[in-house]
Amino acid sequence: MNARVACVLAAVGGSLAQTQPSCESCHRAIVESWRASPHGNASRAASATAILGRFDEGHNLLESTKRPGVRFRMEQTGERFFQHGEAPGRKRSEAIDWVIGSGRRGQTYLYFKTGLLFQLPASWHVGTGRWIYSPGYDDGGMQFDRIITPECLTCHTTEARIEWAGGEMRYAPGAKLGLQCAKCHPDAADHAKQRGPSRWTRAESMKLCKECHGGVPGAREPAPDVHGNQVGLLEMSRCFKASPNLTCTTCHDPHRAERRVEVLSGKCVQCHEQQKCKQARDGQGCVGCHMAEQKSRKIVFQSYRSHRITARPGGQ
Ligand code: HEC
Ligand code: HEC
Ligand code: HEC
Ligand code: HEC
Ligand code: HEC
Ligand code: HEC
Ligand code: HEC
Repeated sequence: MNARVACVLAAVGGSLAQTQPSCESCHRAIVESWRASPHGNASRAASATAILGRFDEGHNLLESTKRPGVRFRMEQTGERFFQHGEAPGRKRSEAIDWVIGSGRRGQTYLYFKTGLLFQLPASWHVGTGRWIYSPGYDDGGMQFDRIITPECLTCHTTEARIEWAGGEMRYAPGAKLGLQCAKCHPDAADHAKQRGPSRWTRAESMKLCKECHGGVPGAREPAPDVHGNQVGLLEMSRCFKASPNLTCTTCHDPHRAERRVEVLSGKCVQCHEQQKCKQARDGQGCVGCHMAEQKSRKIVFQSYRSHRITARPGGQ
């Protein structure tokens, strides 16, 4: 590792700890739940806790199914985590610097080279507990050179800026990982001045979520997927159109993850009477029928909740 990379790494490590205490002294419960939440852990510096992928013998290999002899071997050496690419006559190794993904579904790993960020070839898939080729990488290839642009990081970090230094482009030192408080509450440092969430309109609340949950720009239609458009789907629903105040935060607390479907079904009956649905049965949540799980178009073994709430369960 050259001195410049070491410097960038030193600057990014530990940035979380330095920015939180001011909020924590008064909002302890929120900060604590946020720390364990997907937003709080959307990106992190590499560590044994942050990386979910396995490095132990028997679980640390990704072998090509197309090209015999091409494989990736994951190795932990002290505090460093390596991906070794091995092919007949070729070898390439890089260490993980950043982790993208709290690990709800998966994680992808990045490394620094000459101040820029690149994606590593092996990603971890949580559902199957296996290493997989990073999305878009060829089975059998030995690619280490996919560059990570600042656009990619706008939704996964609080701040990762590109700057010019000595005539070259690099990520500015001091990037802030995770989605920190300031990402969604930019003027919270001054409570007297801020117009906080309690005074946000519905449009303002939806606009915040849409920055990152509005799907891939240019996609033809809203669809549930890894980079799905929950905002577009919800806005197509009768529930949204016919009620003045339904937002994403009617069901989700952005500072914590709630994945129990029965609790989320409880949100429906804040507005609907169970008896009015002839199909509803005691003990069977509303969500299973009205927000059906749909298969991902991009990743074969994955499914997502449709946020288009309809009276035609399963259909659109
Ligand atoms: C000295 C204690 C204190 C500190 C430090 C503090 N807050 Fe607050 N905050 C409060 C209190 C009290 C309220 C509720 C009353 C109010 O709105 O002023 C509040 C309210 C809020 C609200 C809701 C405002 C609204 O109108 O809905 C947000 C958001 C918030 N704080 C974010 C933050 C963030 C982010 C930080 C760290 C940068 C922070 N606070 C630091 C005491 C504090
Ligand atoms: C700056 C980008 C950004 C904004 C703004 C944002 N999110 Fe997220 N959200 C993410 C990312 C990235 C993830 C995935 C984190 C992970 O698992 O690594 C996520 C995950 C989630 C999840 C999944 C939680 C789980 O159980 O895994 C929910 C629910 C969610 N966000 C709701 C919201 C709501 C509601 C808003 C608006 C108040 C919002 N988000 C605003 C980026 C954002
Ligand atoms: C427009 C905002 C946005 C951009 C740009 C974006 N992501 Fe995401 N990403 C999200 C959100 C939001 C989620 C969570 C979605 C969900 O659960 O439905 C997510 C999920 C993920 C996950 C899975 C996290 C987990 O815990 O399961 C990975 C890995 C990921 N993104 C990597 C990337 C990479 C790599 C790039 C750049 C090439 C990128 N994303 C660009 C918003 C974005
Ligand atoms: C992904 C965006 C996002 C992040 C990150 C985020 N918040 Fe919030 N926060 C919101 C939204 C949206 C609301 C309004 C929730 C609602 O409508 O009930 C909110 C409400 C609040 C409130 C007032 C209501 C309450 O629940 O007491 C406080 C205080 C607060 N946030 C503090 C924080 C602190 C401290 C952090 C960092 C640890 C943080 N937030 C991180 C989006 C976010
Ligand atoms: C904030 C209030 C609110 C919440 C929360 C809410 N809805 Fe609705 N929903 C409405 C309103 C208002 C309508 C329109 C009723 C009408 O047209 O008579 C509606 C309509 C519907 C319809 C008819 C859809 C159609 O296309 O005709 C279904 C089905 C439905 N809701 C199911 C649900 C389920 C399931 C949940 C929980 C996942 C839920 N709703 C949560 C307010 C809400
Ligand atoms: C009526 C309740 C309701 C509303 C409103 C709602 N969600 Fe969800 N959301 C759910 C349920 C139920 C799940 C599935 C929970 C699980 O399996 O962890 C979910 C899951 C998610 C996930 C995890 C990925 C997935 O698709 O399974 C994300 C991200 C998310 N919601 C974001 C949002 C955003 C952004 C909004 C606003 C546009 C929103 N949600 C509005 C009920 C709701
Ligand atoms: C077993 C699947 C199933 C479950 C569970 C279920 N629903 Fe339904 N629901 C349906 C179907 C199918 C329809 C449309 C056909 C009908 O009207 O009977 C419907 C219709 C509705 C409508 C529209 C009624 C109208 O007259 O327009 C609402 C509102 C609704 N459901 C709410 C709920 C709520 C709230 C729950 C949870 C307490 C729930 N449903 C649980 C299948 C289900």
